[in-house]
Parts: sequence; structure tokens; C-alpha cells
Amino acid sequence: MTQQSARHHDHPHGEGHGDRHGHGHGHGHHDTHLDWSEMAPLLERQAEIASPAYAEAAAWLGTLAPVQGIRRVLDVGSGPGVVTALLAEAFPVAETVAVDGAPALLARALARAEARGLGARVSTLHAELPEGIAGLGEADLIWAGNSLHHMGDQRAALAEFAGLLNPGGLMVLVEGGLPTRHLPWHIGIGRPGLEARLDAVHAEWFGEMRAELPGSKDEPDDWRALLADAGLTPAGTRTFLTDVPAPVSPVVRELALAHYERLREGVGTRVDADDQATLDRLLDPSDERSLHHRTDLFHLTARTVHTARKG
Ligand SMILES: C[S@@+](CC[C@H](N)C(=O)[O-])C[C@H]1O[C@@H](n2cnc3c(N)ncnc32)[C@H](O)[C@@H]1O
Repeated sequence: MTQQSARHHDHPHGEGHGDRHGHGHGHGHHDTHLDWSEMAPLLERQAEIASPAYAEAAAWLGTLAPVQGIRRVLDVGSGPGVVTALLAEAFPVAETVAVDGAPALLARALARAEARGLGARVSTLHAELPEGIAGLGEADLIWAGNSLHHMGDQRAALAEFAGLLNPGGLMVLVEGGLPTRHLPWHIGIGRPGLEARLDAVHAEWFGEMRAELPGSKDEPDDWRALLADAGLTPAGTRTFLTDVPAPVSPVVRELALAHYERLREGVGTRVDADDQATLDRLLDPSDERSLHHRTDLFHLTARTVHTARKG
């Protein structure tokens, strides 16, 4: 295993303490800052719960490209590497590289690969994107999972990724799908429809986060058209479901708690006082209707995977 660096400038927060991307630029929207290292446990659990869906997606990719022909896989914006390991398992002759701007997450990706016996074929590359794209090297498959939308100019970044692909190689974007739902419409606290209102404020936040990215371009999310404009041939789009019904395991409950704690601190401050009081009750372990005790908790989400082939 190796840990390389394609970093082009110093890290303003120091190693392992978050990273600059997603940062506000002093225009008053400080809550669009994302501390990825702090989010590691949440990202890891989310991806673990969605692992069957991601494994299904990886198996589908194997039908779009000859598995023996996939020699180098880049997982860009890998985070803690849950999907990196799944890709390495799905493409057994490939070297798979986890690429991310957060060193703490890359360390987790490496540890996970080792624990799964994939250490010889998985490496990490520390790169700030899009600046670091040219240094990533050629690839037969590039997977950008929930990461392209963290780059200001998605069109330009995609064109650069396409330039790294070998002939016949696949570009894969995980973008969109459905927001994760954990609770039914009527939860017995406050006004019904809480999650729909949280989704609405999250959508506003997302727009602000994108607008504040370096080199931000206002680009409609027509992923298939963007892939085609990058000179690639769209090869199919599919959505993969994660459906964990009630009653949930303690791990899924903990994930819901972590998700709601993050919401309360973040976009939860944008909902009205009634909804904020509901969030407080959901997070209060002494409240019998809190997430700690609820019997109606579930985890339902869908992720859309867009593919395109080079040449
Ligand atoms: C939402 S997480 C997705 C993690 C993983 N791909 C998944 O789907 O579970 C986004 C990841 O992209 C990384 N990232 C965001 N902006 C980046 C940038 N400008 N350069 C490098 N990595 C970045 C973050 O550190 C984080 O790990």
C-alpha cells in the first residue's frame, strides 16, 4: 500500500483537521463549511448501510466494461473508502486508488482495505480537486461518488476526468437520487411532514454551498448531457435503493441520531421554532418519542449512478 500526495498547496487547517473545500469565503454563509474529517463516522456508516446497493452498482459496472480490462480504478472523493473497497472487490485485477482532500479519511480508507485483505491493490492519493486532477494518472474507471458537486466548475472537472480515461474506460457519477428518509409523515411531535421541510432547507443550503465553492459555475444537473459534452458516450443510468425497514438495528438507529444531531446544528437552524423544538425532542434521550426509543424509525434512500464510456 502506498500513500501518495498530489497536494498543490498547504492545508489551511493542518493535517487531519478538515479541509478547505466546501468552505465559505467570508460572504456570511459560514454554515456551508464542511469539515470532512469530523464527518468521517457519519460518512462511513452511511456508506456501510448503503453497501449492498453500492455492491450492486459495482457489479452492474462489470457488465458495462470487461472486468479483466479494468486495470486502474480511481475513486475520486473517496471519503473513508467504503466504496473504494467494494470497487476493488468488483474489479479483482485492478489497482484501486482512493483520492481525497482529507488525509484522515484516506487513512480510514487504507485501514479498511487492509482489514478486508485488499491492501496490496488499494492505495491512497491525497489531492485537492479539481486542481489535482492532472496528477491522478490514467484510469480505466473513474468513480466520483457524491463528490463532483463539491467542485465549483463541474463541467470543467468532468472534461479533465474524461482526459484521464483510457480508450473504452468508464466515467461513473453518483449524483442525485432521493433524499434519505428516516421517519414517517406523522411522528406524534409537532407538525407532520418534518423531513420534507428539512429537505427543503437542505436544498437551499446546498445551493449556497455550491455558490461558495472556488470557481463556482451555475450548471444545471443534466448529468448525461454533461458526460456527453465531456466527449464521452453515455452508457446507462440506474438508481440503487437502500431499504432498511423498521424495526432497525442499533447501528441504523445510531446513524439516524448522528444524522439528526448534524441537522440540528446545521440546516436545522433554518426551520421554524416549532420544528426546532421537534428536533430537540427527537434528540432528547429522556423523551419517549425521541430517536433513541422510536419504533417507527427506518432508513430509506436511493442513489443514482450515471455512466459514460470513452471512445
Ligand atoms: C459526500 S463525501 C462522499 C464520500 C464517498 N464518495 C461516498 O459516496 O460515500 C465527499 C468527499 O469528497 C471529498 N472532497 C470534497 N471536496 C473535495 C475537493 N475539492 N478535493 C478533494 N476531495 C474533496 C471530501 O473530503 C469527502 O470525502
